[in-house]
Amino acid sequence: MTEEELHTVVHLPKVELHTHFEGCAPPAFIRGLAKEKKVDLSKIFRPDGSYDYRDFWHFLEVYEAATSVLKSPEDFARLCKAILDESADQGIVYLESFISPDFCGGGDVGAWKEYLHAIQDAAAEARRDHGIVMRGVVTCIRHFGPEKAKDAARCAAETAGDWITGFGMGGDEKQGKQRDFAWSFDCAREAGLKLTTHAGEWNGPSEVRDAVEDLGVDRIGHGVNAHSDPALMDLLAERNITLEVCPGSNVFLGVFGALDQHPIQKLRARGVPVTVSTDDPPFFHTTMKKEYEALARTFRWGEEVFRELNKTAIDAAFCDDTTRAAVTKILERP
Ligand code: ADE
Ligand code: ZN
Repeated sequence: MTEEELHTVVHLPKVELHTHFEGCAPPAFIRGLAKEKKVDLSKIFRPDGSYDYRDFWHFLEVYEAATSVLKSPEDFARLCKAILDESADQGIVYLESFISPDFCGGGDVGAWKEYLHAIQDAAAEARRDHGIVMRGVVTCIRHFGPEKAKDAARCAAETAGDWITGFGMGGDEKQGKQRDFAWSFDCAREAGLKLTTHAGEWNGPSEVRDAVEDLGVDRIGHGVNAHSDPALMDLLAERNITLEVCPGSNVFLGVFGALDQHPIQKLRARGVPVTVSTDDPPFFHTTMKKEYEALARTFRWGEEVFRELNKTAIDAAFCDDTTRAAVTKILERP
């Protein structure tokens, strides 16, 4: 692959489906808020300023500590602006982000609406400045349990529309079962929301099957461990259930030892719809440009493959068809 081909790939317009809103906060942004609010967060940073954690479970703790200084709708609006400025710089033209009512008003519908208004205002400003389109996916957190998830689902249902377009679940896959959250996913579906859940990042293929069968999701967050079950890969392909694959996150957290051992290529070759996202970019020292460059080098993927990945992503995006058509036009530019 020539440097020119790599340059083309890295600078393509991109669709990103899997980011956690707070997980996109740069460490300097969180340190700044901590200082303003006189909160001591020194233990979650390394001397070089990056986030400090040992493994995925410690990451979840550090994530929640970092998020604790985001206290008001204005804080979330500032974060939204920072995220979308950076995303536009990465060539992202359409972004979906997981936003948790647990962190935005503690699951109270009235408070959630105030946070959401502030975030949407910031997103509208970024759209005017950069043309970037954002949609929100309300997300419950698995290790907070099914009752907290119901609060998140009620917030989602109350604000479902052309901006909040989906409902999902993140958090610790080792806690409970997908079906424990069926009430929340049914509530969101009845409100017209599209559905996604983290599955098959830490658990095996049966977790992905549970997500499909017990929750009826449209997409899967990660889903990469489906690679060891050919029948499951065929099911995902037949039902057009798209995987939100985050290769850099998986390698950084040790799900796979290195990118050349990552199953994204195998899944794609089997016909599973796959897309590429960053998950929590500053936590995993990644960006969309870095992901594209690493995938191009490792799997010798050229421009056509990345154009196909972005087409898969916009086809699986949780936006309305008018938005989908407008973004598709941008992606198709030579
Ligand atoms: N929350 C933020 N990042 C996550 C991940 N990679 N998996 C599960 N929950 C998360
Ligand atoms: Zn995630």
